[in-house]
This record gives sequence, structure tokens and C-alpha cells, in this order.
Amino acid sequence: MKHESLEKNATLLLIFSFLVVTVGGLVQIAPLFYLQNTIESVEGMRPYTPLELAGRNVYVREGCYVCHSQMIRPFRDEVERYGHYSLAAESQFDHPFQWGSKRTGPDLARVGNKYSDDWHREHLMNPRNVVPESVMPGYAYLMNKEVKIAGFGKHLATLNLTANNGKGNMYSDEQVASAEADLQAQATGVDADAMLARYPKSQARDFDGQPAKVTEMDALIAYLQMMGTLVDFSTFKTEVEPR
Ligand code: HEC
Repeated sequence: MKHESLEKNATLLLIFSFLVVTVGGLVQIAPLFYLQNTIESVEGMRPYTPLELAGRNVYVREGCYVCHSQMIRPFRDEVERYGHYSLAAESQFDHPFQWGSKRTGPDLARVGNKYSDDWHREHLMNPRNVVPESVMPGYAYLMNKEVKIAGFGKHLATLNLTANNGKGNMYSDEQVASAEADLQAQATGVDADAMLARYPKSQARDFDGQPAKVTEMDALIAYLQMMGTLVDFSTFKTEVEPR
């Protein structure tokens, strides 16, 4: 029988297994590159402001993703607890994405505007100050670590190199050129009009209660307060309903 030669010849078996897995993989993955709902652009999404980006870098550095996910799955219990399930477009500016794989703490995809800045500051300094039973570690030192503002435009320009997904640059030349000023303006709320116009729906104020310094605490809270607030779900319509 033909099948017998396949079963008795390890090399042949390996080659055929490889072919089967390749075809199977292609059939599963290739359509995702063309399906509308995986590549749709959604109104409201914009790249991170320089300050939010600095906060996101703190989030990645401190490993917040080890305990927190940023992806609400399309299941009823999750949608009732956290809000609208996450859209692919909501991660489009994340390099790398922060979906996470474990929830020791709650999902953070829509934590923006849920608490006050003061609450976040207290919580990040020592979570037990506001949630007595919390097992989350404290990050009080972020209050003293100032954000390195000089040269921040290069960070944006570098993201343009990595994240050009065929739809043009993530950041405009104007955004790159004004990165340092925008970072400063958002963290103080002073002269922030131009920055707010460049990044719709962003929030500019002193986030950490220390007006004289731009700290990593400012950046992290600015990032958290933005999360999940960009897409307006009262007007958003999905073309494909989840099963
Ligand atoms: C060891 C696991 C762990 C790590 C690491 C961790 N957290 Fe948490 N986090 C938790 C737990 C547990 C809770 C729920 C109790 C509480 O509110 O403190 C929580 C709650 C939160 C909340 C409130 C969410 C809500 O909807 O109530 C925020 C915001 C948050 N964490 C942000 C962060 C950030 C930012 C970092 C990284 C700097 C971080 N966490 C790191 C475990 C963790």
C-alpha cells in the first residue's frame, strides 16, 4: 500500500507532515490579512501622545502585563464587567501589543477615566492605601523619576520606522518635531492647546500632584487615563457581530 511507504520512511513522513501543517496554517491565517474586521480602521484611534508613550514604556518596563491584560474578550461576563470587547484597531499602535496572558489583577483596556488621578497616584504608590486586600506591588519611586524629555522626537521617529504598516507613518512630521514640547505641555496643562489639537481626546494636566516635575508617575497615569477612551462606542457599529 502507498501509505505504508510513508509510515516506514521517516524522512518522507516528515516532509508530508510539514506540507499538511503548512497548508493548514495558511488556510487559518492568510484570510485574517484580508478580512475587514481584522484590518478595519476605527474612528477615534490615534497614536499615543509623547507623555502617554512614556507612560506605556514604564508599563512595559515594570511588567504590568504580567498581572494585567489589555484585551476584553467578546464574552458576556467580560463585556458586562469591563465594557465593549476590545477591537483589533485598538491595539494598532501597540508595538509590542499588551494583550497579556494572565489576570492577577483586572483587565485594564478600559480603565481610563474610571478613577481620579489622585486615586491612581495613591494606588500606584501603595495599592493597600486604597484597596486593603490588594496584592499588587507599590511603585512609589515613579514619583521621583523624571521623564527623559530631551530627544523624545527620535522615539516617535523610530516608531515610524517599525510601525509603517502600509498606511503611512504613525506620527506626522509635525508630531515628531513638537514631541518634547507636547510632552511638557501635557504633563503640566500649561500652553497645551496645540498639543490637544494634535492628539484628539487627550487630557492635559498635572497628573501626579507635583507641578514642578514631569515624572514617570505623570506619564503612567496619563497613559492609564487614556486607556479605552479613544473610540466612542455610542456611535461605533461593528460590521461583524461576535458569535
Ligand atoms: C503582582 C501582580 C500585579 C502587578 C505586577 C501589577 N498589578 Fe495592578 N493590580 C493587581 C491586582 C491584584 C489588582 C486588584 C486590586 C487593586 O486594585 O489593587 C490590581 C489593580 C490595578 C488597577 C485598578 C484596576 C481597576 O479597574 O480597579 C490598576 C489601574 C493597576 N492595577 C495598574 C497597574 C500598573 C500600572 C502596574 C505596573 C506599574 C500594575 N498594576 C502591576 C495586580 C498587579
